[in-house]
Amino acid sequence: MSGLASPEAGIVAEALAGLTAPRKSLPPKLFYDEAGCALFGAITRLAEYYPTRTERALLTRVAAALGAWVEPGAALVEYGASDEEKAELLFGALESAAYVPIDIAAPALAALAARMRRRHPAIAVHPLAADFLAPVRLPAAIAGLQRLGFFPGSTIGNLDHDEAVAFLARARTALGPGSPLLIGVDLEKSLDILIPAYDDAEGVTAAFNLNILTRLNREAEADFDPALFRHRAVWNDRFRRIEMHLESRVPQSVRLAGLRIDFAAGETIHTENSYKFSEARFAALAAQAGWIVAESWTDPDRLFSVQLLVSRS
Ligand code: AVI
Repeated sequence: MSGLASPEAGIVAEALAGLTAPRKSLPPKLFYDEAGCALFGAITRLAEYYPTRTERALLTRVAAALGAWVEPGAALVEYGASDEEKAELLFGALESAAYVPIDIAAPALAALAARMRRRHPAIAVHPLAADFLAPVRLPAAIAGLQRLGFFPGSTIGNLDHDEAVAFLARARTALGPGSPLLIGVDLEKSLDILIPAYDDAEGVTAAFNLNILTRLNREAEADFDPALFRHRAVWNDRFRRIEMHLESRVPQSVRLAGLRIDFAAGETIHTENSYKFSEARFAALAAQAGWIVAESWTDPDRLFSVQLLVSRS
C-alpha cells in the first residue's frame, strides 16, 4: 500500500504542525517513501503480521461468491492499489473487463499497468494517480459498466472515524448506484496476537516507524538521530486501536527547517492509528456513510474480515 495522501506537498509544514502540537504527532502518509514502501512489503510477509495472508485466503473464497452481487464484465475499482496482487484473486470470478487502480504513487501505478498488459491483456487498465481521500472522478471509459469498489488491507483502519465515514460516503457516490464495495476490515482480537503484529521480533515494524525520521532528515531539513528514538506499539482500549509511537530515549532537541523542537525523555511522537473493529461497530460506521453490510466473510480464528457493502438506496 502506498500513500494515503500526497506526501510531497507541504511535508515541512505538516511535520512542523504535528511536532509543535502539545501532543506530538506525524501523519502516517509520511511512512510511504521508497524505503517505507519496501519495509511495508516486508511487514506483510512477517509471520506475526496476520492481516495480509488471512485476507488473501479469504479473497479466494469471496471471489466465488461475488457472482451473486456483481455482473460479469464489471469494472474493478481499487482504492490504494500499489500493486495488483489482491485484485488478481478477483479478476477470474468477476470476468473483469476493466481495472481502475487508484493510488497516489504514479511510478508504482505505471509499473502495475505494464505488468497488467503482460499478464492480463484482455482487461482494460485505467490507472488513476490520485489521493483517494479527496474526491476522485472515475475514468469516462468505464461509464457504462457496473463497478465493484475494492479497498483491501484494512487501510480503512488507518483513518479516524470522520475520515473513514467521509471516504466511504465519497466512494459510494463515485461508484454510483448499484455498485457495491468490497472492503478488508481487521477485527478485534487478543493482544497476544495484536501487539506482535505491530512490534515484530525482527524489528521490521520498528524500522518502518523509524524510517519516518530518516525521511524528515532528507526532505524536511531535520537532524533526527533515529537511534535516540524507540518504536512503541500500544493498544488504546478506549478507542479500540493500536497506536504506533516513536519514544525519545533521552531529553533532546532536534532541528527541523530551522526550528528547534524539544523532547523530554519518554515523550512520544504518535505516528499511526490502526483501528480494529467488531462486525457490529463496522456495520454502524458503514451505515453512517449510507452502506449496508450485505455479506461478511471471516477466517476460522476470526482474525480478519472481508465485507461486501451495498448502497442503502
Ligand atoms: C496499511 N495499514 C493497513 C497497516 C496497518 O496494519 O495498519 C500499516 C501498518 N503499520 C504497521 N504495520 C502495518
